[in-house]
Amino acid sequence: MTEARKILVTSALPYANGSIHLGHMLEYIQTDMWVRFQKLRGHQCIYVCADDAHGSAIMLRAEKEGITPEQLIDNVKAEHSSDFADFLVDFDNFHSTHSDENRELASLIYTRLRDAGHIATRSVTQYFDPDKGMFLADRFIKGTCPKCAAEDQYGDNCEKCGATYEPTELKNPKSAISGATPVLRDSKHFFFKLPDFEAMLKGWTRSGALQDAVANKIAEWLDGGLQEWDISRDAPYFGFEIPDEPGKYFYVWLDAPIGYMASFKNLCARREDLSFDAFWGKDSTAELYHFIGKDIVNFHTLFWPAMLEGSGFRKPTAVNVHGYLTVNGQKMSKSRGTFIKARTYLDHLNPEYLRYYYASKLGRGVDDLDLNLEDFVQKVNSDLVGKVVNIASRCAGFIHKGNAGVLVAANPEPELWEAFQAAAPSIAEAYEARDFSRAMREIMALADRANAWIADKAPWALNKVEGKQDEVQAICALGVNLFRQLVIMLKPVLPKLAEAAEAFLNVPALTWSDLATPLANHPLNAFTPLMTRIEPAKIDAMTEASKEDLAAQSTDAATPAAPAGNGELTKEPLAAEINFDAFAAVDLRIALIEKAEFVEGADKLLRLTLDIGDAKRNVFSGIKSAYPDPSKLEGRLTLYVANLAPRKMKFGLSEGMVLAAGPGGEEIFLLSPDAGAKPGQRVH
Ligand code: MSP
Ligand code: ZN
Repeated sequence: MTEARKILVTSALPYANGSIHLGHMLEYIQTDMWVRFQKLRGHQCIYVCADDAHGSAIMLRAEKEGITPEQLIDNVKAEHSSDFADFLVDFDNFHSTHSDENRELASLIYTRLRDAGHIATRSVTQYFDPDKGMFLADRFIKGTCPKCAAEDQYGDNCEKCGATYEPTELKNPKSAISGATPVLRDSKHFFFKLPDFEAMLKGWTRSGALQDAVANKIAEWLDGGLQEWDISRDAPYFGFEIPDEPGKYFYVWLDAPIGYMASFKNLCARREDLSFDAFWGKDSTAELYHFIGKDIVNFHTLFWPAMLEGSGFRKPTAVNVHGYLTVNGQKMSKSRGTFIKARTYLDHLNPEYLRYYYASKLGRGVDDLDLNLEDFVQKVNSDLVGKVVNIASRCAGFIHKGNAGVLVAANPEPELWEAFQAAAPSIAEAYEARDFSRAMREIMALADRANAWIADKAPWALNKVEGKQDEVQAICALGVNLFRQLVIMLKPVLPKLAEAAEAFLNVPALTWSDLATPLANHPLNAFTPLMTRIEPAKIDAMTEASKEDLAAQSTDAATPAAPAGNGELTKEPLAAEINFDAFAAVDLRIALIEKAEFVEGADKLLRLTLDIGDAKRNVFSGIKSAYPDPSKLEGRLTLYVANLAPRKMKFGLSEGMVLAAGPGGEEIFLLSPDAGAKPGQRVH
C-alpha cells in the first residue's frame, strides 16, 4: 500500500430550513462512500459538514413558526443529524455556520480581503418593503410578468414564459412577505472584487481540479468576464454583522463555504492529532475535496477559491460535482409521492438498499441519476440478496454441521481466488475515481463467478456422497473466503452489512489490506440472514406516505401564518387576484360531519364521513392535532370543496376537502355556517 494520505472532505452544507430528501442523500451517500473507502485503505480522511443556518429564508420561517432563528436551526440540526446517522453517513463533525468558529473565520477572511483591497462599496437601489421594513430579495417579490402578463411571478423570472428580468420590470409588484407595494430605496453594499482573481481562476479551473464538463462551463463564464460579487445584506438579516459596519450583514453565501473550515476547526479542538493549519494553511500538503451538486458550481469554483487565495489560505484540490436525482424518470414530485424525505424512506426501507442503488448508478460525471423504483427493487434483490449474501448462506450450514463451524485451510480453486486478487486494484481505482458504478459492476461480476463455481461444485449433492466430506469443507471454505472478499470490497457502500458479516466471520473490523490473506483454520459464528429482500409493498407504502406528508403540509399552507414571537400578527400575503369565473369554478357546499375518526397509522389525519345532501363523501383531513377527540366534530356543519379531484392515499380515497383557518397544530379552526344552513347547499 502507498503512504498514508491526509485528506479533508466536505459535502455541501444543507440549508437549515427544510428536511433532507432523497435528492440531498445522493450527495451525502456519494461522499460518505468515498470517505469510507479512503479510511478502509488506511488513509487519514476527515469528513466534515454543517448546517447552513443563515439568510432571510430562515429568519422568515422562524418568524412564521413563532420561534427564534436559533431555535429553528437547533431543531433542524437535530433532525438532519439523525437523518444522516440513520443513512449511515458518518461525519467526523457536523457543525453549524451559526457558530463562533465561523464568525471568527468569516471576519478574518473578510478583513484580510478588505485590507488587501479586494472589497469595494457602492450604492445599490433595490425594492424595499415599507410594512416589513426590509429589502426584498428577488424571490420575495411577486407581480405580473412584463413579457407575457402571467400573474403571480417571482421578481427575477417568469415560470410561465421563461423570461428573465429585473424586479423593477415586474408590473404591479407586491412583497411576498407582507403584500405591501414595495418602494425603491438606496443602500450601501459591499462587493468582493472577483475580477482581481481572473488569472488565478483561469489556471486553477484547468489544473485538473474539475471534471471536464464543469471546467468547460466555467471557461464560458470566465471568457464572458467576471463581475464583482455583492456580499452584503441590510438588517434585518439572520447572519453575521460585517466588522466595523453596523447594520450590514454578510450574505449567506459568503460565510457558507467558510463553514467547511469552521466545522473542521471545531473538530480540531477535540482531536489532538489534527492541526487546522496543516489542512488549511497556504502550504498545506493535505488534500481537500468538496462534493457538491451541479446547481452550486459557481460558488465553489469561482468565489470560493478566490476568497481563499485572497485571504492567504490553500485552495481545494478538487471540487467534485454530481447531477440531480430524478425519480421514475421525472423531477421529484410531491403529488406523485416521489418527493421522498429521508425520514419517510427510513420509516419503510433499509438505508443500505439505497446506498447500493446509488453506488450502482453513480459515475464520475455530472449526469442526472434516476431512481427507478421498480429497477431499485429488482437490482437490490438480485445483486445483494441473490448474489452476495447467497454465497455465505449456501456455505455456512455445511461448515457448522460438518466441521463444528471451523473453516478449514484449503484452496480448491486457486484460479478463482487469484481472479479476485487480480480484480482488486481495478476496483480500488474505480472507487478512487468516484466511478462507483464501475466498482459495483466489477464486484458483481466476481459474485457471479463465485456463485457459478459453487453451483458447479454443488456441495449439497456432494455432501450426500460417502467420503466426500473433506471436499465439501474445502469448497465451502473457499466460498466463505470469497464472500469475505466481496464484503471487504463492498464495505464503503454497505457498512452495516459488513459489520454483520464480521460478526459471522468472527473477525475484527475488516480493512482493504485483509484482501491479501484468506481465513484458514478459523472458527465461524452462527450465520444469521444478513439482508432480506425488498418487498414491493414497502415501496407503495413509502410513496403513499410521501403523499400524506404533502396533505399535512398543504393544510398548513392554506392557513394564515402563526403569530410572531412578539405577539404581533404576521400577515399572510394575499394571493394573486382572480376573476369571478375562477372563483365560481370552485364548488363549495355545506356538509354535515356524520362521522369523524382516527386513521390507524396516520399522525395528522382524521377520516371524515360527510353528508352533502344527496350523497356521502369520504375525506381525509390533516386536522387531528386540533381535534384530539374527533367525536366532538360529529353532527357539525362545515364548508366543503365538492369538486376537488379525488386523491388516492395510503388509507383510501380522499374525496374533496373541508375548510379551516389558523396556523396549524392545536390552532386549526374548522369553518361553520350560521344556523339554518342545510347539507348540500351551495356556498356563494
Ligand atoms: N446551502 C447550500 C450549500 C452551501 S455549501 C457552502 C445548498 N443547500 S441545499 O440544501 O439546497 O443543497 C445541499 C446539496 O444537496 C447541494 O449540493 C445540492 O446540489 C444537493 N441537492 C439538492 N437537491 C438535489 C437533488 N434533487 N439531487 C441531487 N442533489 C441535490 O445548496
Ligand atoms: Zn412570462
